[in-house]
Amino acid sequence: MPEKRVLSGMRPTGKLHLGHLLGALSNWKKFQEEYDCYYMVADLHALTTAYVDTAHLKEDITNMVIDWLSVGIDPEKCVVFRQSEVLQHAELHFFLSCLTPIPWLERCPTYKEQQNELKHLDLTTYGFLGYPLLQTADIILYKARLVPVGVDQLPHLELSREITRRFNNLYGEVFPLPEPKLTRVPKLPGIDGRKMSKSYNNCIYLSDSEEEIKRKVRQVITDPARIHPTDPGHPEVCNLFTFHQAFNPSAVHRVEEECRPGKRGCVACKKELAGALIEFMEEIHLRRRELVENPEKISHILEAGREKARQVASATMEEVKKAMKL
Ligand code: TRP
Ligand code: SF4
Repeated sequence: MPEKRVLSGMRPTGKLHLGHLLGALSNWKKFQEEYDCYYMVADLHALTTAYVDTAHLKEDITNMVIDWLSVGIDPEKCVVFRQSEVLQHAELHFFLSCLTPIPWLERCPTYKEQQNELKHLDLTTYGFLGYPLLQTADIILYKARLVPVGVDQLPHLELSREITRRFNNLYGEVFPLPEPKLTRVPKLPGIDGRKMSKSYNNCIYLSDSEEEIKRKVRQVITDPARIHPTDPGHPEVCNLFTFHQAFNPSAVHRVEEECRPGKRGCVACKKELAGALIEFMEEIHLRRRELVENPEKISHILEAGREKARQVASATMEEVKKAMKL
């Protein structure tokens, strides 16, 4: 039996940080070894919210692909492509729009949430309402069975399954039902203790230099009960400890043993973590430098990915049209 197909995507919204690495990319990297993976730059999805200001789109796309490759997403092992370069996404999106009742889309929790959150944008558009439909098209165009997503994306995937079922009921069993591929991911706080997010300005980016990493690690909020290095510490409330767990696992036990009785100061603890993080990032930085110096590699990778994606997409659309008697 051929290996299962996986599809996932990310909108190009700016440089990626350590939260993206732990939350999504480390899984993508693992799955490329086990499955037939398609990883998509969701630039059409980006347009559903960022349609006014598109000047940064090209640069954001290149930088995001550099971020992906820098962490070890390997185009020899998976297909990396841009959604807007495979026209069948838009075509299938239209077909799905004909059979999807509008209330299904309005009901989707992210629809109202995002409109409330992004008040500065006019999201009363047709395209934004159809966001989950486009996402469904992305998935079933490749007949992907597994979709690595975070819990926040589960309602979208449930909707994708409903729409896929409706298509199959109307026209015959063309598509397998996609399933979410949930993996437990450690939550990484930002340097201020809130969720790591660009909008909070609390991120350590994959592209940060060693100096930036050191500076940001110095700013991490630790156990607020500690004033002197000899005060007893509480790793369970310390954000820096979470970073040790994620990036310095071999030292976690020692850090905890020394922190609790006050045998380790936070300044020294930060120095150790910064060193470990820089070591962890060394390979990532090396790959990045090589790509930044050879930007033509990125265009070649996207061209090759586009061709592979188009092949699968056009075969699926032939089946779809036949099933729909078009
Ligand atoms: N909505 C996803 C995000 O914002 C991106 C995305 C687009 C996606 N199409 C997809 C994810 C298909 C999984 C499958 O991150
Ligand atoms: Fe956190 Fe380390 Fe300070 Fe303990 S010693 S509170 S683990 S930074």
